[in-house]
Amino acid sequence: MQTTIDPQSSARTIAASPTVAIVGATGAVGVELLACLEARKFPVGGIRLLASARSAGKTMSFKGHQVAIEELTENSFEGVDVALFSAGASISRKFAPAAIKAGAVVVDNSSAFRMDPDVPLVVPEVNPAAMAAHQGIVANPNCVAAIATVALAPLHNAHPIRRIQMATYQAASGAGAAAMEELRESTAANLRGEDYAHKVLPHPYAFNLFSHNADVDMESGYNGEEQKVVAETRRLLDAADLPIGITCVRVPVLRAHAMAISVEFDQVVTPEEAVRLLSGAPGLKLVDDRARNHFPMPSEASGQDDVLVGRIRTDLGDPSGKTLALFVAGDQLLKGAALNAVQIAEQLLPR
Ligand code: A2P
Repeated sequence: MQTTIDPQSSARTIAASPTVAIVGATGAVGVELLACLEARKFPVGGIRLLASARSAGKTMSFKGHQVAIEELTENSFEGVDVALFSAGASISRKFAPAAIKAGAVVVDNSSAFRMDPDVPLVVPEVNPAAMAAHQGIVANPNCVAAIATVALAPLHNAHPIRRIQMATYQAASGAGAAAMEELRESTAANLRGEDYAHKVLPHPYAFNLFSHNADVDMESGYNGEEQKVVAETRRLLDAADLPIGITCVRVPVLRAHAMAISVEFDQVVTPEEAVRLLSGAPGLKLVDDRARNHFPMPSEASGQDDVLVGRIRTDLGDPSGKTLALFVAGDQLLKGAALNAVQIAEQLLPR
């Protein structure tokens, strides 16, 4: 079941019942990739679960069967049609070429190729047409960029966005399974009144929050996460010079990110118009109940495919009325990672 060239475009499609490999199958995203393939009835013809030597020989359940985990090597991709990578950028850089050489299409969840002009960066609800140009790799965006653009694209398509200001409230899952475990353990230790020596994240996590743990650029003061969100949001919205100000913060939430976003347009856009544009937009659910003070929350976004959007109001920080304020929440492991990757893989299936 090797990949084929689609004669309608230069893009490669995959076999109708493809063999799927998950690289990083045991990780926080890998587990969700497997669950998404099953939940969405992706027509899996064969499954290969790849991780480090530490996990080789263990098993994971897929469609009621136990599947053995194999150690990732350059020879892991024989017969694989689509390889979903989620084991970090260095693993993607090292092993994606072997997957492509073996005939697989790579959907890469890491940052390794996201800004490569030859690699499409895709959120299917936002820029599905970009898929057509892929040459063997499609990049899955940064989780904040993916979640935010699902809410921003319907507005941007109707009224081009001129400027964005945002602050994020990011969950543990974005830092991997070990960070989720650190949040659980440190919270439990804290409640028992015990000290906890943090080892995954750089600061105490229980009952605390801190500036995102990505490295900080000494000159600009922006951290790597903020830089990724800015660059990738521009790419996804096809707005190369869009001014975006951002502060990314890690909060003690397990798996859903939230974000406060101010969006400036070049004309007045009323909250009513925004509600109209966002209602029923793909991948989006309006949660905007002022009477009950009920707006998007990580606890409700967790486990949901849809991104939640609400608190839609005129931003009083801009007296011109051209700026709207929104609050957004989305499951970092689903729309921010695994779900989006599987949706990309679905686009590769023959029509
Ligand atoms: P393993 O569990 O065997 O260490 P997370 O993002 O949740 O931290 O998960 C990272 C994923 O990447 C895990 O599945 C992990 O496998 C995998 N991984 C880490 N290092 C390697 C490696 N050198 N080769 C293959 N997989 C790796």
